[in-house]
Amino acid sequence: MRYLSIGTAKEISKIGLGTWQFGSREWGYGDRYADQVARDIVRRALELGVTLFDTAEIYGFGRSERILGQALGEDRERVFLATKILPVLPVAPVVEQRAVASANRLGARSLDLYQVHQPNPVIRDGTIMRGMRALQRVGLVGEVGVSNYSLQRWRAAEEALGSRVLSNQVPYSLVARSPERDLLPYAAERGRIVLAYSPLAQGLLSGRYDQDNRPANRVRAGNPLFLPDNLARAAELIAALREVGEAHSATPAQIALAWVIRHPAVAAIPGASSVEQLEHNAAAADIDLTDGEYQALADAAARFQPITGRAAIPRLARARFGR
Ligand SMILES: NC(=O)c1ccc[n+]([C@@H]2O[C@H](COP(=O)([O-])OP(=O)(O)OC[C@H]3O[C@@H](n4cnc5c(N)ncnc54)[C@H](OP(=O)(O)O)[C@@H]3O)[C@@H](O)[C@H]2O)c1
Repeated sequence: MRYLSIGTAKEISKIGLGTWQFGSREWGYGDRYADQVARDIVRRALELGVTLFDTAEIYGFGRSERILGQALGEDRERVFLATKILPVLPVAPVVEQRAVASANRLGARSLDLYQVHQPNPVIRDGTIMRGMRALQRVGLVGEVGVSNYSLQRWRAAEEALGSRVLSNQVPYSLVARSPERDLLPYAAERGRIVLAYSPLAQGLLSGRYDQDNRPANRVRAGNPLFLPDNLARAAELIAALREVGEAHSATPAQIALAWVIRHPAVAAIPGASSVEQLEHNAAAADIDLTDGEYQALADAAARFQPITGRAAIPRLARARFGR
């Protein structure tokens, strides 16, 4: 495993574990996954040196936090535990009460990273950061983070907090590269972190899916990347991942992760549906891509032009209802 060199109290592994899948109906992994496999994934992650664990109060409506907390047990104190508040009513007393509730579900004395899950479109961050400041003062929260924030709003959040907002959790992968424009340079320059979510594009970059074998669950039924046309268009990128993978005895998913975390300010938080996937993902931290490989993958990614936005909506409906 490799770790960020960022000067946090606890080490943050370059490959973490995302736990939206834990107990969330929309992923459709079922009871055995929630009751047993999720726990096994967490225990194996610990063995492999993973220290970054990411959850949120909204995942499974608290179930993900509970499963993660129980699986970590006493080890929760030695990992970098990250959760998120959904800022529906982001006033200071609510923020404080919700942090306590998350810590209780996790069985944790404190939260290493408490993130604002997404920017509130109406209320600016002054109110939420007042609550965050109070939580840091009493030691319930270590670092404050944001998620799905533009650079401008990340900086405004820092100003409102009056100290560093350590991380911005955003989609970042070979097929979602907008953080390269401004978030990554900012993080590198200021000692901040970009936490890459959906680093495998929700499984697209594993190469496991194609037009004849599409994943069946609500999350991916609503993701245009899994439209038959887009799966066909992704074939060249998947082939490029396979080719680089052969040189490293690695899978396409591992190469996709190695590509994402090559940037020094990035840690990735892939989810996993099995212990084996988690093992592969953790091992990806140790893959060194050459400059040529990195660029070849970036070029193949640039040639992938999926159907997105409004053009994708009727196709999503057709793909879902078979018309
Ligand atoms: N802040 C936010 O708004 C936000 C939004 C989304 C996600 N997140 C966080 O980011 C985490 C990861 O994102 P994500 O779950 O959306 O997408 P992801 O990590 O890109 O994809 C996860 C899925 O990919 C497949 N997979 C994982 N490892 C694999 C491997 N080694 N080989 C083959 N397939 C593999 C699994 O699905 P199958 O086996 O079923 O194919 C798994 O459920 C979440 O758990 C959550 O913590 C945050």
